[in-house]
Amino acid sequence: MAELIVALDVSSTAEVERVVDLLGDAVSFYKVGLELFSAEGPSAVRAVKSRGKRVFLDLKLHDIPRTVERAVKSGAALGVDLMTVHAAGGRAMLGAARAAADACGKDAPKILAVTMLTSLGQSDLEDLGIGREMKAQVAALGLLACANGADGIVCSPQEVAEMRAALGLGTLLVTPGVRPAGTGLGDQKRVATPAQAVRDGSTHLVVGRPILEAADPAAAARAITAEMAGA
Ligand code: C5P
Repeated sequence: MAELIVALDVSSTAEVERVVDLLGDAVSFYKVGLELFSAEGPSAVRAVKSRGKRVFLDLKLHDIPRTVERAVKSGAALGVDLMTVHAAGGRAMLGAARAAADACGKDAPKILAVTMLTSLGQSDLEDLGIGREMKAQVAALGLLACANGADGIVCSPQEVAEMRAALGLGTLLVTPGVRPAGTGLGDQKRVATPAQAVRDGSTHLVVGRPILEAADPAAAARAITAEMAGA
């Protein structure tokens, strides 16, 4: 069954504690990203873990293989469950992330690859000297990552169905840009409802504002989980 991950897009451990306590049993998986990790570091992760929750540490690692290997080991030592690396780091870097995870045994974090940031468009590809269409580039990077040890990828709801077909069953497909019907889009453009994302093959949905900005965040989270289960 697909799982809900709530994005902790806040900047202090105190806010993390407030949100996680407020959501209580309604949510068991949280994403810690660059804003929070840059501000508070491992203490933010520990605040979530100490409440019995799982953590997706979304640092989008992109560096030489040795550095990425050591960063994955450090994340694993914090007990995180998912970590991200950039597929564009190449085979050796992807392999180093895999090796670091494997060295952690059964508690190893799963490694997710970011393909092309959704903030980039076709003209950015041209700037980078990439001649392929965006869709083909995303698919090629997804295949490269999974062939070199990634457990899955992060992708937009619009790409999920194609990536499921390309990468096969068993690959994790983690999808932000999810909006329950009737909630605001914020700055997200290419969105899908929770039910649609799950039907298309997402294994994890990352949701921030529709839960954090709801009048009753726990009820909003429960409604999304129920919609996912119904799909
Ligand atoms: O508030 P919202 O539901 O849009 O939050 C989605 C989360 O997923 C944010 O942490 C955002 O940075 C992240 N994300 C995204 N789109 C991507 C990759 C990550 O919205 N393509």
